[in-house]
Amino acid sequence: MAQFPQRVFSGVQPTGNLHLGNYLGAIHKFVSLQDTHDCIFCVVDLHAITVFQDPAVLKANIREVTAAFLACGIDPVRHIVFNQSQVPEHSELAWIFNCVARIGWLSRMTQFKEKAGKDKENASVGLYAYPTLMAADILIYRATHVPVGEDQKQHLELARDVAQKFNKDFSASIASLGHNEAFFPMPEPLIQGPATRVMSLRDGSKKMSKSDPSDNSRINLTDTADIIAQKIRRAKTDPEPLPSEVECLGSRLEADNLVSIYAALRGFSKQDVLNEFGGANFSQFKNALVEVAEAKLGPIGAEMKRIQSNPAYIDDILRKGADRARVIAGANMAAIKDIIGFIR
Ligand code: TYM
Repeated sequence: MAQFPQRVFSGVQPTGNLHLGNYLGAIHKFVSLQDTHDCIFCVVDLHAITVFQDPAVLKANIREVTAAFLACGIDPVRHIVFNQSQVPEHSELAWIFNCVARIGWLSRMTQFKEKAGKDKENASVGLYAYPTLMAADILIYRATHVPVGEDQKQHLELARDVAQKFNKDFSASIASLGHNEAFFPMPEPLIQGPATRVMSLRDGSKKMSKSDPSDNSRINLTDTADIIAQKIRRAKTDPEPLPSEVECLGSRLEADNLVSIYAALRGFSKQDVLNEFGGANFSQFKNALVEVAEAKLGPIGAEMKRIQSNPAYIDDILRKGADRARVIAGANMAAIKDIIGFIR
């Protein structure tokens, strides 16, 4: 396999209610990757409209995700932060990938099945084709590493399948244009640490999600300290004290989730947490969790508010980021057109 320069790409949908799962599963990881990689972080507004979005709310949500990136510590000068719809090459490559990906691949996507629900006939075509756009997001930059939560794993596998099929279908053209043996890298998912799948605070078998009708099921990045404390204190648990060994968390879904959250917030392993809290009851453990959650998330929420009070500042960052992203995307798109045989 050809060697590709390392580049990180990831995206977050501007669909409101950014929560602790988005933070621990994704944004928190983005922040640390900045020290080791060139990174591109995208507010994926084209993905958001696969289900209807009110235009005014969409605009506010694009700014909110951008503010969250900045408030969590993403540096838009050293790295690239932008919104997807300002770089048309994403949509352009997505169309090409619609012609590379197979219907059978998309039909297997569990996220489509979940989101479309029983009424598949009435889902948008965009919701079905969502994973080819996601593959385009990553591959238009020939990104090699993609930090995401566990729920995006299947989409990443599809992106790899698309990259591989494109490289194979066009191998002769790719070689004749002097691109080594492959044009696209196989993007590697980065799904690591104790909180790759943060679960609902009300039901440990359900993922923490933006769309859960119960606001108590999640901690939003914009929740105040009081609300964070209240939600943690009300979180579902079981009657047993915490165990001393990770293996004993087994079927105790809610306990496992709270331990994972605490571990991720403190940069510990789950076993570290149980070494400290094994034998403790939940009221004790929840006090400690409230303390770290408030300490970590409180300043982020406050900084988000401050940044959001200046939409012109946010829009300027997005515009500048898009200009830089287009330089890379445009060059790659030109090469892709040559490979396919388009005249330009
Ligand atoms: P989205 O907007 O649903 O979520 C953004 C990121 O948060 C992660 N995440 C979670 N992690 C742990 N526990 C949870 N409960 C949880 N909920 C969400 C997601 O895994 C994701 O990393 N399809 C993507 C957006 C996207 C993208 C891309 C990502 C579009 N193009 C290209 C990477 C590369 C999505 O809907 O994420």
